[in-house]
Amino acid sequence: MKLFLDTADVNQIREAWSWGIVDGITTNPSHVAKTGRRAMEVYEEILGIVDCPVSLETVALDAPGIIEEARQLARLHRNVVVKVPLLREGLKAVKTLSAEGIKTNVTTTFSPLQALLAAKCGATYVSPFVGRLDSIGHDGMELVRQIKTINVNYGFQTEIIVAAIRHPKHVLDAALIGADICTMYFEFMEMLYLHPLTDIVVDQFLKDWNKIPK
Ligand code: E4P
Repeated sequence: MKLFLDTADVNQIREAWSWGIVDGITTNPSHVAKTGRRAMEVYEEILGIVDCPVSLETVALDAPGIIEEARQLARLHRNVVVKVPLLREGLKAVKTLSAEGIKTNVTTTFSPLQALLAAKCGATYVSPFVGRLDSIGHDGMELVRQIKTINVNYGFQTEIIVAAIRHPKHVLDAALIGADICTMYFEFMEMLYLHPLTDIVVDQFLKDWNKIPK
């Protein structure tokens, strides 16, 4: 499973990129707002740090506006993936962009039928927001399972990005389902490395090593 980092914080991106496990970056307007910087400045810096797909979100609500924004974003760098919200106008735009060879990530996806429409329009990626579904008492991972089944049934190439992750168990569940990608905050990516027994055993080995006559 590919691991994407979900942030617009360039320090986090630089650090995580150095670990060698990051396969992509997803940003959204909320992440960019947190940086307090101009969006284009942040995007250009991210694209200079990593060499992998970088999702940059459009904010227009009509298809012509989304298409215009998407073309501008796509011109920034070959790694740009244009993130488009799952609206009727958004999917109209995705159909056009896909025919132009511009990669798209259909975001804010909350139902399997929405994902089916995204795939039919040629979306490169679809992003189900699992944590947000869990938080209203639904089963976010069930949505991922359903999208996976639909993609297999019809041979859709649209990759599933499991998004709005709230804990490492979401990452494990995504991997067990066979989702293509999981995107997560920096703190969850850090947590993937951790297990208390690892620390205890490494510590014990070092102590024992120091007892060996040198
Ligand atoms: C994914 O691409 C989104 O940026 C992100 O996962 C949204 O998650 P949130 O619910 O934490 O805002």
